[in-house]
Amino acid sequence: MDFILQSANDYALRHSPNKDELLNEIHAATLLEHPEAHMLSGPLQGNLLSMLSKMIKPRRILEIGTFVGYSALCLAKGLTEDGVLHTIEKREEDAAEAKQYIERSDYQKKIIVHVGEASAILETLNEEWDLIFIDADKTGYLNYYQHLIEKVRSGTWFIIDNVLFHGEVLKETITGKNAKAITAFNDFIKEDSRVDKVMLTVRDGLTILYKK
Ligand SMILES: C[S@@+](CC[C@H](N)C(=O)[O-])C[C@H]1O[C@@H](n2cnc3c(N)ncnc32)[C@H](O)[C@@H]1O
Repeated sequence: MDFILQSANDYALRHSPNKDELLNEIHAATLLEHPEAHMLSGPLQGNLLSMLSKMIKPRRILEIGTFVGYSALCLAKGLTEDGVLHTIEKREEDAAEAKQYIERSDYQKKIIVHVGEASAILETLNEEWDLIFIDADKTGYLNYYQHLIEKVRSGTWFIIDNVLFHGEVLKETITGKNAKAITAFNDFIKEDSRVDKVMLTVRDGLTILYKK
């Protein structure tokens, strides 16, 4: 993430220690073994997700894009006693790895992993979401958001990952399809009067939305 000052990022990381052994194990194992380890939220963003979830105290969380379960386990920390987090992952191998970590966590009864295409799974979930984390295919963001914003109650929170897309959205000419999709998404959100919004320059960029 060279568009964010590396020294400032390292300083922030050093001052945001994460003592959760399982999360640290997942982080280390993924860096070592997974060819797409960069997709993991990591400790700085992970701590932020946990904090936001603890502030919101959601009863129902929806996550689109499980990967190996790191962010789901971070978000689950804020769930109410009767809370449940539903997470969607299309790749069976990643979903299986996530399930195996979740089994070993304190949240094995509170996290449900759905394996399949997010757009299809979304149609089958009939919950009143308090918090939604969108972190899957970038070209799907706008569809997921448009589908969900119509259905959710006022007071629902959204967290959207990768809104700076490796800094590509900052370029004068945007060429990649993912960067184009994120740019279109960001421009749409900027004008959407249904939500309060803030974009944070944490890691790859996180936008927080609140449905009015
Ligand atoms: C950036 S990773 C998620 C990282 C995870 N949220 C974390 O922070 O640790 C995105 C994940 O979304 C999954 N994904 C991509 N497109 C998807 C789709 N259409 N439906 C469901 N999952 C999808 C990918 O397989 C990948 O594991």
